[in-house]
Amino acid sequence: MKTRTLGSLQVPALGFGAMVLSPGVYGEIDDDRAEVALKAALDGGATHVDTSDAYGVDGHNERLVGRAIKGRRDEVVVATKFGLAIPEGEPSRSHPVGYAFNELRVNTEPRLIRGYAERSLRNLGTDVIDLYYSHYPDPGVPIEDVAGALAGLVRDGLIKHIGLSNVTAAQLRAAHAVHPVTAVQNEWSMWRPIDPDLLATARELGVGIVAWSPLGTGFLTGTVRTLEEGDFRHNAPRFSTENLASNNDRYAPIRALAAQLGITPAQLALAWLLHQDEHVVTIPGSRTPAHIEENLAAADLTLHPDTLARIDAALTRFEVTGGTLL
Ligand SMILES: NC(=O)c1ccc[n+]([C@@H]2O[C@H](COP(=O)([O-])OP(=O)(O)OC[C@H]3O[C@@H](n4cnc5c(N)ncnc54)[C@H](OP(=O)(O)O)[C@@H]3O)[C@@H](O)[C@H]2O)c1
Repeated sequence: MKTRTLGSLQVPALGFGAMVLSPGVYGEIDDDRAEVALKAALDGGATHVDTSDAYGVDGHNERLVGRAIKGRRDEVVVATKFGLAIPEGEPSRSHPVGYAFNELRVNTEPRLIRGYAERSLRNLGTDVIDLYYSHYPDPGVPIEDVAGALAGLVRDGLIKHIGLSNVTAAQLRAAHAVHPVTAVQNEWSMWRPIDPDLLATARELGVGIVAWSPLGTGFLTGTVRTLEEGDFRHNAPRFSTENLASNNDRYAPIRALAAQLGITPAQLALAWLLHQDEHVVTIPGSRTPAHIEENLAAADLTLHPDTLARIDAALTRFEVTGGTLL
């Protein structure tokens, strides 16, 4: 697997997003199936594994990752996040986006951050987190204060690198002035462009980009026609029955382009992202070993500039219905 650098951290171009492996996200899944998927990802070279203390109930997703990396910790870059799994009795504030995951309540007060990290270390069964992100900015806490608390964790050896997720260019700049930020993790895919100011700022500061939901939470694979019960995408307007059907119709030219190239739409979506910047990596999620293998093969694809231009033209015409936020 090709590697790339995020700040000073080397990771495979394609990692693995473990969120899909906890029940209640994309519907039902049991731990046996989750463990098979994680093993397939690690064996296939997706050794940058992304989780969060908020995926699944009570650290479920981190504990799954902890079991998968047991005995092979040195091979893996472990990334996790904090701020949404708030201890009982602590206050929280509402984050205005991310509603498809239900209302997001955040608390990144510096007094809690060391406790969050210690809890994640226990769940993961490790003594250091390679990349530790603030999951969503807390409207009640200056990002500089979060960066200051994270710098303390680096100093004390609990974490190696600092990340910020779902931030603006201004927030990235402010945090980076306190302590170097290694990576920003924001949504970016063929159907959700990244904020150009954020991209420009990350480039200027030498901060890597980790693109979340690179497959458009499955839509860009061209295979989503209906949703199971309990799937969070029921809350996402782009996936309402009517919008999903019309979005699928309008996505046809890109599916056709993938077919012409002899690759799958999922591979085209991932390869396209990797061609956007040399410091972008991504973390597709899947419960299915065959999908994981298919996705990882995209890291080796080289898209001709003419192909990239054709994709860009097709994306310009691809009008998505169902709002701009997840
Ligand atoms: N920082 C944040 O706020 C944030 C928010 C959301 C996500 N994330 C991160 O981003 C990671 C990935 O995002 P995501 O899981 O939301 O979305 P995604 O990777 O864009 O899509 C995952 C979906 O695509 C399907 N899929 C994957 N490969 C496929 C293939 N080759 N063919 C057909 N279907 C395929 C999966 O189903 P199968 O299981 O059936 O393959 C699953 O339903 C998460 O795990 C998480 O680590 C971060």
